[in-house]
Amino acid sequence: MADSLEFSDEVNHALKMAYQTPDIVSARAKVVTALKLHEGQHVLDIGSGPGLLARDISQNIGASGSVTGVDMAGNMIDSARKLCDQNENVTFEQGDAMSLPFADNSFDAVVSTQVYEYVPDLNIALAEFARVLRLGGRGVIVDTDWAFPYWNAVDGDCRDSMINAWKGHCAQESVPMRLTASIKSAGLQLNTVEALPIMNTQYNENNFSYWLSKIIASFAKGRDGLTQSDSEAWLAGLDSLEKKGEYFFCINRYLFEVTK
Ligand SMILES: C[S@@+](CC[C@H](N)C(=O)[O-])C[C@H]1O[C@@H](n2cnc3c(N)ncnc32)[C@H](O)[C@@H]1O
Repeated sequence: MADSLEFSDEVNHALKMAYQTPDIVSARAKVVTALKLHEGQHVLDIGSGPGLLARDISQNIGASGSVTGVDMAGNMIDSARKLCDQNENVTFEQGDAMSLPFADNSFDAVVSTQVYEYVPDLNIALAEFARVLRLGGRGVIVDTDWAFPYWNAVDGDCRDSMINAWKGHCAQESVPMRLTASIKSAGLQLNTVEALPIMNTQYNENNFSYWLSKIIASFAKGRDGLTQSDSEAWLAGLDSLEKKGEYFFCINRYLFEVTK
């Protein structure tokens, strides 16, 4: 993981902004719907990040329910606790998706969004997901297919170099197409898979790809021979496409709904 994305304060800020765009707010709502939550349920959010999903879930399980967020990064736990300090049924603790600090069968529902690309072994992480979910419980997993970001550029070679460098941000490539096998090997039943496309035709702070481009530009510099000026040139190209009305971005996330 030495080369993977570091969740520094700069990345955390861009992530927090990206996760508040309408693109991701609506994707989160789909996750909450897919969980089919009930009052009084105990829910685990693995890799809870800034805590936005945990907060949304907490509003669907009543005061007798609980949401536990677990994340490996201490700074993520800090911001999630701050975000949810008014939500009494939400707690966060530091822990690893590869070895969850919870007993077998302890949650009615388990969710993990945008996390499995970072784990060293997908099968072990899914086995942990299954272990802590009670029999009959429901799970939702969301991951992005980073193999095919569809992104207009002024300089296609520069764009391709940035995207190639970005592929090094995670430990696992192409998680969505491998998830079905890992879900089965964990003994879970796969019920549905849904594509959640994100398409932006404008480049501004209200769109997911705006913040994603900032994270990629920051990650790429110094890798694969790319410099700060390569990153700046790519970002400037995106700005100029926006000014000409020619900006275009599309990527797919996939939502897997499972039961144990
Ligand atoms: C891209 S963020 C997603 C955050 C959140 N799930 C969401 O969708 O809003 C990825 C998160 O996974 C966490 N993470 C990465 N590897 C992890 C692991 N092995 N165990 C627990 N958390 C992990 C990171 O610290 C980060 O907060």
